[in-house]
Amino acid sequence: MILDVYEAVTSRRAVRGFDDRPVPREVLERVLSAAAWSPSGSNLQPWHAYVLTGEPLAELKKRAGERVAAGDPWDEREYEMYPSALKSPYHERRSAFGKERYSALGITRDDWESRQRAASANWQCFGAPAALFCYIDRDMGRPQWADLGMFLQSVMLLLRAEGLHSCPQMAWSVYRKTVAEVLTPPDGLVLFCGMSIGFEDVTVDYIRTGRAPLDETVTFVEG
Ligand SMILES: Cc1cc2nc3c(=O)[nH]c(=O)nc-3n(C[C@H](O)[C@H](O)[C@H](O)COP(=O)(O)O)c2cc1C
Repeated sequence: MILDVYEAVTSRRAVRGFDDRPVPREVLERVLSAAAWSPSGSNLQPWHAYVLTGEPLAELKKRAGERVAAGDPWDEREYEMYPSALKSPYHERRSAFGKERYSALGITRDDWESRQRAASANWQCFGAPAALFCYIDRDMGRPQWADLGMFLQSVMLLLRAEGLHSCPQMAWSVYRKTVAEVLTPPDGLVLFCGMSIGFEDVTVDYIRTGRAPLDETVTFVEG
């Protein structure tokens, strides 16, 4: 599929329902080979990506599912996902996102059980047949974490060019020990996030997540 860059960017969204069509290994290799051209400060290329399909992914989902069912507490954090007190306008944007996400599923604000159930689909990769886990060396700094973001966005856009969708997932960081049991990464790597990859299940309802108006996030300084 040939996609214009604008189309790739605007058609990418966090898809939270995949069907079981497998993702061919050669497609994943093509995407990851191209994503390797992502920029990084001094070309450090600080991303360490693991791709899981088939039996190992099924095993990971099984182990994560068992933890969820047992009410197992999350692993201690290796990084904070968000500042503890989100100030304006971030707080309002997060609330708006939660509202959109759960109302698309018909879940009300105070229905915590249904919210928890929807959230736990993270650890089943929303049904996706492939997943990527992105690690970074513990001693890397903030600029290198930003490099990971660029790499991951390249992956997600290239997946669009292959007719595939994705969902980046920090949620996996709270079950990082379970991920490590299956992937056995070397010591010294920190799991930033997972990413579900596959073909969209078009029967799953969603509301397209909005964006702040341009003048809230961009300032033109003109002569
Ligand atoms: C680094 C990162 C981590 C994310 N973690 C999760 C996650 O754990 N679970 C999830 O369902 N969505 C996750 N998302 C998806 C965001 O909620 C989503 O990108 C955002 O709400 C904007 O919506 P859109 O991507 O559909 O346009 C994550 C996105 C990013 C960039």
